[in-house]
Amino acid sequence: MKNSTFAALAALLITLVGAPTSPQAHDHDEDPPFSEDDKKADKKADKADKKADKADKKADKKADKKAEAPVDLDEEEDRSPGALYAEFCSNCHDPGIAGAPKTADPEAWGILLKSRGFDALVLNTIKGAGLMPSKGACVACTDKEIEDVVKFMLDKAKVKHP
Ligand code: HEC
Repeated sequence: MKNSTFAALAALLITLVGAPTSPQAHDHDEDPPFSEDDKKADKKADKADKKADKADKKADKKADKKAEAPVDLDEEEDRSPGALYAEFCSNCHDPGIAGAPKTADPEAWGILLKSRGFDALVLNTIKGAGLMPSKGACVACTDKEIEDVVKFMLDKAKVKHP
């Protein structure tokens, strides 16, 4: 192939594929130099920005606090014994894992109730027992709520309780 033909072909290829990137022309006009008014306006805008930043940080902190709460039980959430049981206790007590008395096992609960008494069952749940964490991990639950959930469990097992 003749040199000139080669050059022509190369030129054609470059036009077809696209020339090696040439810097795009700047179509951005230079800003005119700042006037005093511009500077003042800038400062004001800066201040507003800082204020907004502060507000953002405050909101962030609030959100963080909420996220840190062990379980997000807010006021609107259903805190009935049944709902609390479903959320916190059923994982262990439905299947009876890790030595947890099965909720559907009246015999087990009957024996526990007889040998320990209702108050002890509630107290042990609040303190935690064996592999059960304190309050069954419902950190936000009050003692009274725990008592009501224990009652709910005993009701489910059809075991009479105080
Ligand atoms: C991580 C699993 C787990 C969760 C969650 C859990 N439990 Fe338990 N629970 C256990 C185990 C294990 C035992 C048996 C403890 C032992 O060794 O005596 C137990 C025992 C109990 C007892 C009998 C206490 C006693 O004196 O023998 C009650 C009542 C009880 N749980 C209620 C609850 C309630 C109410 C909840 C929910 C708020 C709950 N548990 C959540 C695992 C769990």
